[in-house]
Amino acid sequence: MKKFLMGTNWKMNKTLAEGLDYTTGLTTIIAPYSQFEFFIIPPYTHLWKIKEAITAQKSPLKLGAQNMHQQDSGQFTGEISPVMLAEIGIDIIELGHSERRQYFNETDQTVNLKTLAALKHGFTPLICIGEQLVDKDYHVSKEMLAKQLKIALNDVLADDIGNFWIAYEPVWAIGVNGIPAETPYVEEIHNFLRSILIDRYGARGADVPLLFGGSVNINNARDYALLKNVDGLFIGRSAWEPDLFKAIIVAVGDLSNKV
Ligand code: PGA
Repeated sequence: MKKFLMGTNWKMNKTLAEGLDYTTGLTTIIAPYSQFEFFIIPPYTHLWKIKEAITAQKSPLKLGAQNMHQQDSGQFTGEISPVMLAEIGIDIIELGHSERRQYFNETDQTVNLKTLAALKHGFTPLICIGEQLVDKDYHVSKEMLAKQLKIALNDVLADDIGNFWIAYEPVWAIGVNGIPAETPYVEEIHNFLRSILIDRYGARGADVPLLFGGSVNINNARDYALLKNVDGLFIGRSAWEPDLFKAIIVAVGDLSNKV
């Protein structure tokens, strides 16, 4: 059975010292849970030191960056390239998070370019898609999500299956003002996303990990995790303390009977 994925994006939170404490604490907590694959996505400035800590502690934690430019180098002030992230030994590149789309002009097209660059450099792109509340209210969530997913995966080949992950994060469910999504809604959307992947890639589309995120917490984590087409949970603020993350891991519990 594929490992169920669980990870957290710290966004613009934690000092380096706090991040190192978190990494050590979480490494201890996850030791008995080898049925899961865990990942953390700290701010850029922390990545070198956290990678060193992960290596020194022989931690199974996978390490991600919150964004990446698609070019190897160039006149792009303030950006970080795949070559730089490869030097650190980063595993995952988070792309297209709704906050990047909303505040930093990330588009479906740039997410596609970054996805292709990430794959070329041997990273696992974690591609985030999600509809706005207005899309849901006007019953065009699926159209919006299909567009985001298809553009993000333009020119991504079946050979790359397993090397990229998709996170469905409804924008209206994210953050302190987010409203947690109802489980049947998540089920419907994840089934829909799976059908697009199967249309696109044939049976191998079933092997693309589909994570769910947006106000995942101790109360809803297991319900989401039990859904057939939910292969992982992508958690924000409810996992920003190791003990809180542990409570979610415990709440998710045993998934060995999941079909
Ligand atoms: P949240 O964040 O769990 O705090 O809603 C999720 C995300 O932005 O990925």
